[in-house]
Amino acid sequence: MAEGLFFVLEGIDGCGKSTQAGMLEEKLKKENIPAVLTREPGGTAVGENIRDLLLDPGGTMGTCTEMLLYAAARAQLVQEVIQPALNQGKTVVCDRFVWSSLAYQGAGRGAADKKIYQLNQEVTKGLTPDLTFILDVDVEEARRRLEQKNATKGGDRLENMDMPFYRRVREKYLTFAQYNPVSVEVISSHEKPEAVHCQIWSKVREILPGRE
Ligand code: TYD
Repeated sequence: MAEGLFFVLEGIDGCGKSTQAGMLEEKLKKENIPAVLTREPGGTAVGENIRDLLLDPGGTMGTCTEMLLYAAARAQLVQEVIQPALNQGKTVVCDRFVWSSLAYQGAGRGAADKKIYQLNQEVTKGLTPDLTFILDVDVEEARRRLEQKNATKGGDRLENMDMPFYRRVREKYLTFAQYNPVSVEVISSHEKPEAVHCQIWSKVREILPGRE
């Protein structure tokens, strides 16, 4: 059986990628394409526990600890969920992957790209997405959306970072796209969710087997 396709959605907090990941999974299922939706950090029992540690707004953590915990959650997710689903020919939609670590722990926190890359090659066993969507939105708009979402409960540890941090993260994503024009699509996320979804779907359809 042919391996399934692997799609990843990336972007700064507030870019709308979780909404889009859900819409993509729903559309795939409507088209009778077996699909699995998962997210990082999380997606497994161990990963969800690590997620709680990572996002606890009261917690403090060094960059190296943060980088290793994201990688640990990812190792479990690849082994337990992503690779088995791909082996069964299923399409996998993942909300964040290795590029979140390069953008947040690399550009955001200052960890060396090479270190993050090597660690993640190890934990993913070299697995790379067939297509990564970067949902791009300016930092001010993302902040407005997060403030609305968190009006009553406050943001998590990463969502509470300052604007310069998010500017660095966004720039890193855009640089990544520039250097990987074939495997990365930047989609403006200023439009309504349905319009963003149509753009994502048209790219996905282009590479779905037998559907070009
Ligand atoms: P996310 O799932 O986008 O949060 P939410 O459910 O609130 O939309 O991601 C959680 C946070 O983790 C987000 O701020 C980005 C951060 N993150 C990293 O810093 N490095 C990583 O490798 C990953 C996967 C996420």
